[in-house]
Amino acid sequence: MMAGSKALPLLFLLALVTLSSAPAMATSKFDFFYLTLMWPGAYCNSGLFSKCCRPTTGKPALDFFVQSLETYDSSNGEPVTGCSTDCRFSVNALRKLIDDLYAYWTDVSCPSNNGRQQWENVWCSYGTCSNFNETYYFQRALALRAQVDLLSLLKANGIVPSSDKLYKLEDIQDALIPTLGFSTVVECNKKWVLGESQLYKIRICVSSDAKTIISCPIQKSSSCGSKVKFLPFNPKQLPVGSAHNMANPIEMTAAIDMDM
Ligand SMILES: *[C@@H]1O[C@H](CO)[C@@H](O)[C@H](O)[C@H]1NC(C)=O
Repeated sequence: MMAGSKALPLLFLLALVTLSSAPAMATSKFDFFYLTLMWPGAYCNSGLFSKCCRPTTGKPALDFFVQSLETYDSSNGEPVTGCSTDCRFSVNALRKLIDDLYAYWTDVSCPSNNGRQQWENVWCSYGTCSNFNETYYFQRALALRAQVDLLSLLKANGIVPSSDKLYKLEDIQDALIPTLGFSTVVECNKKWVLGESQLYKIRICVSSDAKTIISCPIQKSSSCGSKVKFLPFNPKQLPVGSAHNMANPIEMTAAIDMDM
């Protein structure tokens, strides 16, 4: 009796250790997210021609867009992708989120499109590794974007879009720390090889339940130079279609048919 009552907790502990170590033996296991928020002003200003078109679903928000909510493995610093061999994506599952998706998770690339392909790619690459259902995956990503509210955060620190002003990378990073801690990585692009750094993406580390912003478990350095442009984005001026795609009117059909 005495021996039994002592042995029981030990056995229980052993069982726990065995159970919890079993999944760790699987190859790559997702244990945190990178939420990638993209500034369309920089995206549109890369390459020789403006590469942006007005989505068929209407004018997007003047704000950072969600680009993806990526599943990562902190043990090797690599993304965990493609967890379902036959990936099923349904726009119907996103019905209740559609206005937010059109505003904040839209695809401004050319030719004008309804964003569906981008959502499907993100879902099939990362969403299927998240242990969430499709609705919840997109809902959490949108909620995190709203919670972080990067544009307001930067503005509160005097960092606003401007076609000629150069900001110190350090000032951008410092503006994020009081609210977001050490959870962010700032990424830049350039209009051309010798061009100036342009604030392009801010990636934010998020807990695996997609509820809490966390200090990044892996270190990624910024791809920006020490001086950074934060270019304006004007959703009203996005052209429909593009000079390159006028021959393909099928791509330019209007909003998504929810029953497809
Ligand atoms: C999706 O997951 C959320 C959160 O776990 C849950 O509340 C919701 O009922 C699920 N929806 C479907 C269609 O399974």
